[in-house]
Amino acid sequence: MSSVPAEFNPANVAAQAAPDAAMYHQELSFKDPMKSVLEANPEIYFVPPKRSSEWGQWEFKPGSYYDTTIGSKHDHWKDQDLPVATKDIERLRSDMLSWGYCKIDSALSADQVAVIRQRVLEQAEGERLAGIAQKTPSGQNINCCVNKGQCFEGLIEHDPLSVQGGPLVEQLVTEALGENWICTSLIASISLQGGVPQALHQDQDLALDSRSPLTINILTPITDIDELNGGTLVIPGSHRVLSDAVREQRPVGKLPPAINIDAKAGTMIITDGRLLHSTGINHTDSPRIVMLNGMQHPLIRQQENWMLSVKPEVLNRASPKLLQRMGYQATNAAQTNEGHGFGASGLVDEAAGSIVDFRLATDRGEYLRVGELGPDSTAEELNAAYTLRDVVGKARAGGGPAPVGIGGAKLNP
Ligand SMILES: [Fe+2]
Repeated sequence: MSSVPAEFNPANVAAQAAPDAAMYHQELSFKDPMKSVLEANPEIYFVPPKRSSEWGQWEFKPGSYYDTTIGSKHDHWKDQDLPVATKDIERLRSDMLSWGYCKIDSALSADQVAVIRQRVLEQAEGERLAGIAQKTPSGQNINCCVNKGQCFEGLIEHDPLSVQGGPLVEQLVTEALGENWICTSLIASISLQGGVPQALHQDQDLALDSRSPLTINILTPITDIDELNGGTLVIPGSHRVLSDAVREQRPVGKLPPAINIDAKAGTMIITDGRLLHSTGINHTDSPRIVMLNGMQHPLIRQQENWMLSVKPEVLNRASPKLLQRMGYQATNAAQTNEGHGFGASGLVDEAAGSIVDFRLATDRGEYLRVGELGPDSTAEELNAAYTLRDVVGKARAGGGPAPVGIGGAKLNP
């Protein structure tokens, strides 16, 4: 009987695994800039209380990051040229580069806002009545909105019927993330009176030394937001301060104070994934609604598990663009299904990369996966109605690029 070599013994491996012996130890230990942010900025950052019952009684700490106001009223910021709501693409680009966020004025018309507001408020009520409301320290979130009203489908794909400024928003996101970006999730964030502010954080939690964002978040206020009702807290410019520090492997140092973003309902605020931000405090008795629609580089795992969660009827009516944005368009490097998608680039409606039919077959209880096969397999096994066979056949008939690899080369359609 052969014995396993001693070098593979878990105890022996662990004995060799001291942190400073690890490859890339120095680089990776600088990847989380928050430790030095905490050390250098104790007065603006601390973890907020966990229980909202404590909030407002003794936990509010004057001078902390959430004890602030909008930029134009803030002593530190009022003379700075912070982002303004505009439709001017040059200004939007420069705000994004300089401050880590920009505000697209009237990206949603008043009518488009009204549709979403009504649907969000009704859904929030319905989920409370059903006993499945997703409570957050700040109030209530509605997750996986794509299943909860057709207006949300339009929001994800920036359909001009739902987002009049869609083309301009998409241009800016493409400039930030590159082509074929996908959606990580669409959440309605409702901040309620008595809610606890969120801790300042970066949404992008990898490659924090990157020179351009790998994730962005599109925040769409559905109610006007300001310092009174929990306008999103941000530290303008922190996207660059933090990524520069990580890249140069030095402490972040002193940060400027946070502000509340102020914006009219229907503004779309694009935030760089490296920007320090959090949900603010709603001091009013009206719900503050912001749609959180994160977008990201297509190789990053998504927040919402769209593969499992999206309702069949939504998938059946989804446009190729919506499917691509939810990740149903495989690329050579991500989300191939039994190999289908190798060779695909992830373009919208590229038949070679479309994987939605696997999910729909699953819903019908008909997904037949290729399993163990060999020279002794029976004719029945070899000729089974593998779903892969159907999908590859459909892709070839669709006239797209010929599927390659497992999906194309190894099967007889
Ligand atoms: Fe966030």
